[in-house]
Amino acid sequence: MTSPICVALDTPDLDRALTLTAAVSGHAGYVKIGMELFYAHGHAGYEAVARAGVPVFLDLKLHDIPNTVAQGLTSLMTMAPRPAIINIHAGAGAPTMQAARAAIDALDGDKPKLIALTVLTSLAADDISEIGYDPALETRQLVIQQAELAKACGLDGVVCSPLEARAIKQACGANFLTVVPGIRPASADVQDQKRIATPVDARRNGADVLVIGRAITGANDPAAAIAEIAEDLKEACV
Ligand code: C5P
Repeated sequence: MTSPICVALDTPDLDRALTLTAAVSGHAGYVKIGMELFYAHGHAGYEAVARAGVPVFLDLKLHDIPNTVAQGLTSLMTMAPRPAIINIHAGAGAPTMQAARAAIDALDGDKPKLIALTVLTSLAADDISEIGYDPALETRQLVIQQAELAKACGLDGVVCSPLEARAIKQACGANFLTVVPGIRPASADVQDQKRIATPVDARRNGADVLVIGRAITGANDPAAAIAEIAEDLKEACV
């Protein structure tokens, strides 16, 4: 079984990304490459990490009109090996999500899971009403509405907080992928995350993939830190 742990590399430094990938490769199901590494090193940087053999979640959060997102995805899919997971914003709307789905479906060979960002976990209720959403709309309701729309557009899952994963599974079905950041082992610092859970609680609450950054990458020994999390998950059978 693939490990549910996805290590967020979160560095623009390619050598560090490669060192971290090697350190966690025994226990990581995925590594996550984000904007900082991709904008600094492009296709070659991505491919250097992906060739290490750990499946990659390419977290570029595309958000644009349908034609641009579809063509952007097609350009990204010329890289080899292809990512296992890629994401776009649900806020770009149904026409963009449908165009993205069609672009991925048109590929020959391995196709990544296409998932949607719902409401960013950095936004609180005030921030959401400030950008024009109905202040009466609860964040959780908005997240579920966007997850249902993503499902209706044929997407494979969403990124959500550990507190929403179960409700999304209930609304969208057990096979709809929940990729969950905001994970903190009980002993770790909360830092800037707000809606958090431990790895074991997140899995029990319906998270398929646990995106973990600083609790692993900021540890003195990242290999030991991920091994400990993997052991906790094994003991809890989740
Ligand atoms: O270090 P930490 O475990 O908080 O890292 C979490 C990772 O998940 C970071 O790469 C962050 O960008 C990402 N993320 C998040 N909240 C979202 C989407 C992605 O924390 N809603």
